[in-house]
Amino acid sequence: MSANERKTTGHDASAAGASTSDPTAVESSVAEHVADPRRRRMLVRSAVAVGGLGAVALAAPMLGSMSPSARAKAAGAPVEATIGKLAPGQLLTVEWRGKPVWIVRRTEETLKNLEAESERLSDPASEVEQQPEYTRNTVRSIKPQTLVVIGICTHLGCSPSYRPEIAPADLGADWDGGFFCPCHGSKFDLAGRVYKGVPAPTNLEIPPHRYVDDNTIIIGEDSGVAA
Ligand code: FES
Repeated sequence: MSANERKTTGHDASAAGASTSDPTAVESSVAEHVADPRRRRMLVRSAVAVGGLGAVALAAPMLGSMSPSARAKAAGAPVEATIGKLAPGQLLTVEWRGKPVWIVRRTEETLKNLEAESERLSDPASEVEQQPEYTRNTVRSIKPQTLVVIGICTHLGCSPSYRPEIAPADLGADWDGGFFCPCHGSKFDLAGRVYKGVPAPTNLEIPPHRYVDDNTIIIGEDSGVAA
């Protein structure tokens, strides 16, 4: 070991600037103390790595310092959706607890079709518990025009496609609009009720929700209490 190297051994951490991740700053700091170029490069590399770890370590206290409401939101607190601009036939997607929730403004024609449909459905009266009690009706909603439903297929969890068209070529003449899951061919009507003879075992799930006013829905909360 050279005299120079001996001199710098006790200074590695401070000379390498362990609290920074800026390679340029670290290099000039190391150059002042370490003459050997190979050893200098090694010290710069390890100091930058330590600086990166420092940045990660800093992130953890940040999460710990989140406000209670921010932590609750991250864990799946209720979310608010504004539906005032939703036109008949349109679908809005919001995220709640990491899942897509669809809000569909149904047309008068759709509502008529839903009332008429039942023979081809597995659970037309929503007897299986896939919805809050207050949506256990033919249209599976609080207000007939507006469906609020979780957009995850009850077969294996794919997200179905929204297919509101009547009798499109690929879905057949008896398609009245609904949700189609291309993964294995499950079909649901525009109340999220599953058709017979498809892999999905149950209707789509309706999340707890409530209206604040005509234009605002809170998802994840009913009767003023978070679900
Ligand atoms: S996941 Fe939807 S049909 Fe299989």
